[in-house]
Amino acid sequence: MDERITSDLDIVLKSFTFEESEGTQESLTVTIPEVLDPQYGMYVWPSAVILAQYTWTHRSQLADKTLLELGAGVSLPGVVAAKCGARVILSDSARLPLCLENCRRSCAANGLDGVHVMGLTWGEISPALVFLPALDIILGSDVFYEPEDFEDVIVSVAFLLKKSPKAEFWTTYQERSADWSIEALLHKWKLQCVSVPLLSFNANRTQLAGSTLPGRHTVQMLIIKLDA
Ligand SMILES: C[S@@+](CC[C@H](N)C(=O)[O-])C[C@H]1O[C@@H](n2cnc3c(N)ncnc32)[C@H](O)[C@@H]1O
Repeated sequence: MDERITSDLDIVLKSFTFEESEGTQESLTVTIPEVLDPQYGMYVWPSAVILAQYTWTHRSQLADKTLLELGAGVSLPGVVAAKCGARVILSDSARLPLCLENCRRSCAANGLDGVHVMGLTWGEISPALVFLPALDIILGSDVFYEPEDFEDVIVSVAFLLKKSPKAEFWTTYQERSADWSIEALLHKWKLQCVSVPLLSFNANRTQLAGSTLPGRHTVQMLIIKLDA
């Protein structure tokens, strides 16, 4: 359900409800404020709903884990992780303060006051990146959308995984072109990846969490780790 609120910004509150597929009563509803502005980081993207569903279905692994979301924008997966008990750090480009504002707005809308929000620009080995705590999980939904940025995303992920060798990068991307590939970059940066079928976490649907966003888009889910 969408609710429009009036402020200096034109904001729509979108609700997403994640449920147990096997008929238990457990569910989680989160509210994400979207700004009606034509920038990438202002909306929930289809990949975010899929990654949030993966996060929700793996919630038993999240308690007391430290998790960083990259390119979080309005932060649906990170908000779900925080609601499921993870210690969450949300990040977006240090050059896009409005996107960092979105991260904060999403936390406030869900009563999350312990979530740290920070500027992390892909490919930059900044003090903010270097001084992050050890991580268990890195999230990134729809961060592979601009081929010229792919290596920057992977450089940041490789740096973080080298600092926290047991961590995993959970990422979803929307197939926008047939020649999309990060395989050579993963090899170059000594990373390995497995593809996770959407069916395995009940996300192979056009409607998910009460949202029609997945629609007919082709979204893939990968888990990326350091090469063994
Ligand atoms: C397609 S949007 C996806 C947003 C959100 N993860 C989702 O799926 O709804 C891409 C996000 O990456 C962020 N971004 C773009 N370039 C970036 C960079 N160089 N470093 C860090 N974040 C960046 C944008 O601000 C935006 O939030």
